[in-house]
Amino acid sequence: MTQVPIPDKVDALEIRGLRKIYRHGVVALKGIDLTVQPGEFFALLGPNGAGKTTTIGILTSLVTKTDGSIRVFGVDHERKSAEARALMGVVPQEINFNLFERVADIVINQAGYYGVPRAIARPRCQKLLEGLDLWPYRDAMARTLSGGFKRRLMIARALIHEPRLLILDEPTAGVDVEMRHETWDFLRALNASGTTIILTTHYLEEAELLCGRLAIIHQGTIVAQGRKRDLLDLMNQQTYILDLFDPLEALPDLPIRNIRLLDPHQIEIVIDRNEDLNPIFEALASQHIRIQSLRNKSNRLEELFLHLTGGTHDAHA
Ligand SMILES: Nc1ncnc2c1ncn2[C@@H]1O[C@H](COP(=O)(O)OP(=O)(O)OP(=O)(O)O)[C@@H](O)[C@H]1O
Ligand SMILES: [Mg+2]
Repeated sequence: MTQVPIPDKVDALEIRGLRKIYRHGVVALKGIDLTVQPGEFFALLGPNGAGKTTTIGILTSLVTKTDGSIRVFGVDHERKSAEARALMGVVPQEINFNLFERVADIVINQAGYYGVPRAIARPRCQKLLEGLDLWPYRDAMARTLSGGFKRRLMIARALIHEPRLLILDEPTAGVDVEMRHETWDFLRALNASGTTIILTTHYLEEAELLCGRLAIIHQGTIVAQGRKRDLLDLMNQQTYILDLFDPLEALPDLPIRNIRLLDPHQIEIVIDRNEDLNPIFEALASQHIRIQSLRNKSNRLEELFLHLTGGTHDAHA
């Protein structure tokens, strides 16, 4: 395959004003901007229905955009779509290979779509299958693989044309802990060898472990984008839910910051990580508000969403 020369200092991916309205008026993307630099390991983090798969669907041309522009290493995704797509390898969220094909054939046949001759594809396929521990299964029918290995086969297939940018839609969803770690190691090594990687995930931990920068998508909008460290710093706060003995119509005046009544039976309080809860209990007690139980909302991702979306979070991630 002839490699397209890539100018220096070009973004690996540049998405501008991307909008998607599905039939029947479902607004999946409300005009998102995303920039990923060459060599980055980038996470697109968001709850169910946030718009992650829609974004990837548009990149793979399975979904038609309503509006906006995309450049892959400077190549216009609309005007030079084959060229742009050759620069990307995509691992979709759903298994979409032929289950009745042999493992190695799935990978080698994919090479054909990109004009990679079989003589080049065969050794590449071996290397990929070895790297992903799939080599012993090379002649097996794909349907006989476990769920985790099926996902890895998707990764091998996405890499056969040696894309500069690998995009994975929830690569470890439903994969057990051990295999998840092995997949992460594989992806880290791939990134270290120069491949730019973007993954979508529900798991803050996954984004935290692998990625240097991330964007958080929520209801079709990027609510935050930046270095991981800066975003996680936002989370030096804890959210507690207090269940009340007696229902409350409204909160009385209290000397407490960041307190709100979620419903007549629940109060939410946001405090700094090291802040003492006792003065809060005392203030509530002085107003005869009795607490039945206390829960730390320990889902850090949800906390981050809450923080970023001003409490409009309705995700079930
Ligand atoms: N083909 C479609 N037709 C109509 N609406 C759709 C279609 N595909 C997705 N949607 C809607 O678009 C929104 C975004 O969905 P999308 O699959 O992009 O989210 P996601 O972030 O990938 O979610 P998940 O984490 O559950 O995979 C959701 O409201 C979804 O119901
Ligand atoms: Mg999805």
